Amino acid sequence: MVNMETENARREEARKAIEGLARDPAVQRMKAFPQHGRVSTYAHCLRVARLSCELAIRWGWDVDLRRLARGALLHDYYLYDWHTRGDHLHGYHHPRIAAEKAGADFRLDEREKGIIRTHMWPLTLFHPPTSREGWLVCLADKICTAREWRDGKRRPRRDGRK
Ligand SMILES: [Fe+2]
Ligand SMILES: [Fe+2]
Repeated sequence: MVNMETENARREEARKAIEGLARDPAVQRMKAFPQHGRVSTYAHCLRVARLSCELAIRWGWDVDLRRLARGALLHDYYLYDWHTRGDHLHGYHHPRIAAEKAGADFRLDEREKGIIRTHMWPLTLFHPPTSREGWLVCLADKICTAREWRDGKRRPRRDGRK
C-alpha cells in the first residue's frame, strides 16, 4: 500500500529541488527562448521537471529526486531560439549542446548529464537513457511537448480566422 505521507514528503522534496534551481538566474535565461507555440523553454523545462518527479512519486520508483529535478530542468539548456538559429538537425544535436552548456554553468554529475544527453531518444538512436531518471525525463518531455503543440493549435488566431 502506498504511504500517502511518504508520497507527500517526496513531493515536497521534489518541489524544493525544482523551485530552488528554477530561481537561478542562469536557468531564468531560458525564458528568452520560445519552445513550442508561446511556451518558453523555461516554462517547458519546468513542466517536464514537475511531471518527471510526479510520475516517479506516483509509480513509487526509487529515484534520486534531486538529480531527476536537475536533469529535467536543464534538459533543454541549449540557450538559443531553435526556430531561427538551429539547423534541421536541432532535434538530434541539442541534447549534446544542452549537456555541454549546463555542464559549464552548473556542477553536474555524470547521471545528470546523461539525463540531458538522452532525453530525445529514440531520435538519438544509439543513446538511450541509462537511468530511471533518464527514462522519466525522456517520457515526460514527450508528453509535455505533445500537450504544448496541441494547446498551441487550439488557441484561436488573433485575426479571428480558423
Ligand atoms: Fe529537447
Ligand atoms: Fe524538451
